[in-house]
Amino acid sequence: MSISYFRTADTLITGKGSINQIGMEARKLKGSKVLIITDKDIREMGLIWKVVDSLEAMGLNVHIIDDVVPEPPFEILEEIAALIKEKGYDTFVGVGGGSTLDITKVLSVMMTNEDDVREMVGIEKVENPGVPVILVPTTAGTGSEVTPIAIFTDTSDMVKKGIVSPFLLPSVAIIDAELTLTVPPSVTAATGMDALVHAVESYTAIGANNLTDSIALQAIGLISRSLRQAVYNGKDVQAREDMAMGSLLAGISLGNAGVGAVHALAYPLGGKFKVPHGVANSLLLPFVIKYNIVGNLEKFSDVAKAIGEQVEGLSLRDAADRCVTAMETLSKDIGIPASLKDIGVTPTDIPALAEEASKIDRLLNNNPRWLTVKEIERIYTEAYGEEEAFSETIV
Ligand SMILES: [Fe+2]
Repeated sequence: MSISYFRTADTLITGKGSINQIGMEARKLKGSKVLIITDKDIREMGLIWKVVDSLEAMGLNVHIIDDVVPEPPFEILEEIAALIKEKGYDTFVGVGGGSTLDITKVLSVMMTNEDDVREMVGIEKVENPGVPVILVPTTAGTGSEVTPIAIFTDTSDMVKKGIVSPFLLPSVAIIDAELTLTVPPSVTAATGMDALVHAVESYTAIGANNLTDSIALQAIGLISRSLRQAVYNGKDVQAREDMAMGSLLAGISLGNAGVGAVHALAYPLGGKFKVPHGVANSLLLPFVIKYNIVGNLEKFSDVAKAIGEQVEGLSLRDAADRCVTAMETLSKDIGIPASLKDIGVTPTDIPALAEEASKIDRLLNNNPRWLTVKEIERIYTEAYGEEEAFSETIV
């Protein structure tokens, strides 16, 4: 057995009403001056006030910054860091979707490291731990509250870049499904599919191990069972709880086993076409899985089973194939675009997208089947849906 590490948040708190524990947790971290980082929507919807009330009830001094933007560029980190650097905040609380949580994690280490944030891009380039962080996701999908990864857009080349460091794991993550009840259907669909991709990719990744396998399979089961219901009946508390737990488990699995080619091919779409991360992942998922299946038939047949497909009596190959059709149906049922055409990609964009994706070694080296740039082009081409329109680019 090869050496592997298993890391997650120091403390995980889950369940209905768990948000009310936040004041107590900040107290345990010896916090006195707390900065809440969020976006304007969350602030306007009033989701933030439960957090503020709980913190203030413990006698803590609370300030809020609501400057977070979706798919954030590095510049936003520099802007917020300049505003808060001399203020002496001793605890950071991130309340929001993946962008907010990623920003909070990185701001924490920017307070304790001299390096320019762009020098932190890559694996384990952060020298010192940051100030204590509490993360509260308000969507069920990114799993950012339990991953050592944060993703930002580099506006110089419009490429998404990742900072990976154990110092990005928070002291506390609080997962309260009640905070997700008002998430609109389109966001529920996109973030939910992102979580499913995390579970499927980490389960079939080279970096998977016994610990992550059982967690990933549970996540696939919960998400497959409840995503449609969470999209079409957002007030269904049980469906929202399944999605919150599924997303958390998928995040823990991804944080330790890593993900693969779906994410590698999705990042250039997010950077260049501003496609939400979950939509890009979901759109590519069936096409990448179709390619990957022969890399690990047994595991893909497990995925089909965990999704709820009837695989008894089928050959391993046929059972594995069932996971592709199941994912296509799920994606269609919840209204995710089915083709790259739907998000504005043209055939002439594909070679450059493939070139960009082929550079993301961190993810491609973890994929269950080896990919060359030509094979990446072929997958984008299939996801575009008109192979004959640019068949000259296909091997
Ligand atoms: Fe993701």
